[in-house]
Amino acid sequence: MDERLQRYVNELFAPEDSALTRIRLGHRERGLPDIHISPDEGKLLYVLLRLIGARRVLELGALGGYSGVWIARALPADGRLVTIEREPAHARAALAAFREAGIAAKVELLEGACLDVLPRLDPGFDAVFVDADKEPLPRYFEHAVRLVRPGGLVLCDNAFFHGAAVDETDRSAAAEGVRAYNRLAATDPRVVSIVVPVRDGVVLSVRVR
Ligand code: DHB
Ligand code: MG
Repeated sequence: MDERLQRYVNELFAPEDSALTRIRLGHRERGLPDIHISPDEGKLLYVLLRLIGARRVLELGALGGYSGVWIARALPADGRLVTIEREPAHARAALAAFREAGIAAKVELLEGACLDVLPRLDPGFDAVFVDADKEPLPRYFEHAVRLVRPGGLVLCDNAFFHGAAVDETDRSAAAEGVRAYNRLAATDPRVVSIVVPVRDGVVLSVRVR
C-alpha cells in the first residue's frame, strides 16, 4: 500500500496506546527480532475476534507479546489467550508486555517448541493465530484445524513471506513451508480461506467441517 495511505489507516483505525507503543519499540531494545505484526494487522485480528465473539484463542509464536496484547484485548474479561513461545528471552519479554498492558490475567504462556506443546492441547479454540517458524507450517496447519472449533478462525501471518511465496527460485525450507501452508489453506476441504493483503499477508481460514 502507498505509504501515505498506510499511515492514514494506522493513525485513524489502529492507534496504539502508550503500552502498545512501548512494547513494539521494546523489541529492538531487548534485542528481539523486529518481526512483530503491525498496528493495522493487530487491529485486523482484534476486529475478527470481536466479530466471532472469541473467548479462547491460541497463538503459535508469542515473540515479544505485541500481537498477544491485541488479541487479549479483543477477549472478554474471562477470556483466555494461550500462547506458545520457544525462546526463553522472548517468553520473558512477552510476559513483561502482558503485565505492562494489564492483560496478564487473560494469558497463559506455554514455554516450549510448538510441535512439543501442540499435541498436549485439547480442541475448542475459537481462533488460532499461527506466527511461528515457517518450515513446520504444514504441521501447524494440521494442529490448528484440529484445535479450532467448527466455525472458528485460523489466521496465519506471512502469507507473502516478503515475496518468497511467488519466488520459485527460493527453495529455502521456510519459503517451502509458507507455500505448502498456503496450498493447504486454499485447498483443504475442512476450511475456506483467503489472503488479506495487510503487511506481509494474513491467511484467513474458517473451519467449515
Ligand atoms: C519474519 C517475519 C515474520 O512476521 C515472521 O513471523 C517470521 C519471520 C521475517 O521477516 O523473516
Ligand atoms: Mg509473522
